[in-house]
Amino acid sequence: MPHPLEQLCEDALREIDSAPDEQPLEAVRVKYLGKSGSISSWGEQMKALAKEEKPVVGKLLNEVRNAVTAAIETRNAQFRLQKESGALAKIDVSLPGATGPTGPTGYSGYSGHSTPLTGYSGYLPLERGSLHPLTQVLERSIQIFRRMGFALADGPDVEDEWHCFDALNTPPEHPARNEQDTFYLPDGRLLRTHTSTVQIRTMQAAPPPIRVIAPGAAYRRDELDATHSPQFHQIEGLYVDENVSVADLKGSLEFFMRELFGADAAVRFLPHYFPFTEPSLEVYVKSEALKGGEQWIEVAGCGMVHPAVFEAVNKKRGDKAYDPEKWSGYAFGLGMDRLAMILFDIPDIRLFAQNDLRFLHQFA
Ligand code: PHE
Repeated sequence: MPHPLEQLCEDALREIDSAPDEQPLEAVRVKYLGKSGSISSWGEQMKALAKEEKPVVGKLLNEVRNAVTAAIETRNAQFRLQKESGALAKIDVSLPGATGPTGPTGYSGYSGHSTPLTGYSGYLPLERGSLHPLTQVLERSIQIFRRMGFALADGPDVEDEWHCFDALNTPPEHPARNEQDTFYLPDGRLLRTHTSTVQIRTMQAAPPPIRVIAPGAAYRRDELDATHSPQFHQIEGLYVDENVSVADLKGSLEFFMRELFGADAAVRFLPHYFPFTEPSLEVYVKSEALKGGEQWIEVAGCGMVHPAVFEAVNKKRGDKAYDPEKWSGYAFGLGMDRLAMILFDIPDIRLFAQNDLRFLHQFA
């Protein structure tokens, strides 16, 4: 025979379990644990018990009280949870955020502003995001090069000297390798000073023909001013095949500039020097359609891949895949920040990295 207290406990737990709501549950609580509840009244009856029975029943009474109290708490928590999820289910998360004519920030809207639904209700307006101007130029550029058959290539920002300089025919005494010009890591590696490193990595990985672009960041120890930044962005290009000529190089870059800046963009090539191309050229653009359209602006370096670069790659590969007698190629490095500054008439390169919403909103 179970002790009557045990029976009482069982009944209480069953009733707690079947209580449909908070109010009936409260009634169960009062019935068992209230001042004159049936569990409480056992405390009174204790007095009448024999001395040796008292500790046994007292212990049982405690256990029963604890079990019933815990069960009620658990059931109450269930009710709360049900209520909350019921309320959440009624919220349409796809609706635009509540907003007023002026948000709490005092910011009074721009073209991408969501429409007020219920008038000002104290929530921050849900602003529409947009792509960073550099990302916009990058995506447009990739699209143009894709149409010309270029695939995307990639390489690390933290490079070794060989990929950044030696393989690119740039000797140890070249000024670009100077401590004043390049960020070196304690272990001798460096932050790449140009994306031309990806030319080498691509040729190491696959034999010709090659037709890739490699967008990415590059780093130099430049003083930060309106036109210089220690981190900037380039789009590298490399095309290696049989009979590639300077005419191919000029034609491709002219096509690219006209696609990006408009049909009346004029392109000019001036002789230059890079260790890894021969001949080497600098590319300038000018367009009446653009602000400051009277000026030639330098946007890229380019040239025909130097035979010494092919030989360095061959040596690393351990084959003759890039035989300079058989293959020729062109390479270019476009200044992406420069392209974006011309395209959007941005006067200061620092604006790209300052995260000023007043600036970024203009490209939404
Ligand atoms: N890497 C050169 C620079 O950063 C640009 C360049 C790339 C020149 C490819 C020629 C060929 O200035």
